[in-house]
Amino acid sequence: MEKTFLMIKPDGVQRGLIGEIVKRFEQKGFQLVASKLMVINRELAELHYAEHKGKDFFELLVKFITSGPVFAMVWEGDQVIALSRTMIGKTNSLEAAPGTIRGDFAVHTRLNLIHGSDSPESAEREIGNFFKPEEFVTYNKAIESWI
Ligand code: PPS
Repeated sequence: MEKTFLMIKPDGVQRGLIGEIVKRFEQKGFQLVASKLMVINRELAELHYAEHKGKDFFELLVKFITSGPVFAMVWEGDQVIALSRTMIGKTNSLEAAPGTIRGDFAVHTRLNLIHGSDSPESAEREIGNFFKPEEFVTYNKAIESWI
């Protein structure tokens, strides 16, 4: 079963949107297998966003993501990587469609509420950056056979 890394950013935590966002992935039919509220230090932020180092927004991005608690999660399900990106919506706030998390709640491109892995390779790398194997919980949900 595919896994992805999702992270509610400091603006999502501050605005009290953890429940709303988690609800959407639960209702879609995905399964939460690991999660934690945490503050990211600069080292982890630079590792997580390594591919963007050198871009003009990099410093702002690192400053933002380390500015308050984030809610880090691993979700499991069929095509969860691509489908969760669709549910999150486009990065640019002007392009994020209504019905997506960013389209419904985000006004600014930088304050865009949630990060989601964009490929199987990123998902594996990002999950490994944030979670140890013992932090995962394996369990069966009866609902799985209905999706
Ligand atoms: S790129 O250049 O197309 O790869 O960038 P993109 O995938 O759109 O965005 C990469 C992450 O950088 C964040 N971002 C920004 N942060 C601050 N300021 C500006 N202007 C900005 N533009 C993009 C964007 O939210 C992405 O973060 P994640 O956490 O991956 O969503």
